[in-house]
Amino acid sequence: MPRILIVNGPNLNLLGKREPEIYGSETLDKMNKRLDAMAKELHIDVEFFQSNSEGEIIDYLQQKGFEADGLIINPGAFTHYSYALRDVITAIGIEAVEVHLSNIYSREKFRRKSVIAPVVTGQITGFGFYGYAMALSYFADLKEE
Ligand code: DQA
Repeated sequence: MPRILIVNGPNLNLLGKREPEIYGSETLDKMNKRLDAMAKELHIDVEFFQSNSEGEIIDYLQQKGFEADGLIINPGAFTHYSYALRDVITAIGIEAVEVHLSNIYSREKFRRKSVIAPVVTGQITGFGFYGYAMALSYFADLKEE
């Protein structure tokens, strides 16, 4: 079974309470449970990780990334400036999909730039939960090839 890491960055632990008009009312835990159910149907092994700390996300990816088959990552605000996060994605040589709940191109100007986008296969932005689901179904089809 392919192993996919699903990583959420800073403040995404506050989903449900955090600006629900932008990020929706579902908690991260609930979203992850839905993804877990979907992964079971798709015969994919998923592992979830969330941290507010850049270093912890990097440590996690260094530990797990070499063994995994794919990465679905919502880097939160690190999207816009973390070269360290970008470098670790390149370093572990993993196929990755960048996900954002909100449409980062329709909000403040600083959100329009992603330093992560150039090192991932693609970016899904603005579809809420479905962004993660789309990425998961991409990895499910990839394993069929
Ligand atoms: C986000 C968008 C980022 O700009 C923001 O800093 C987040 C969440 C999203 O999922 O829409 O924390 O990544």
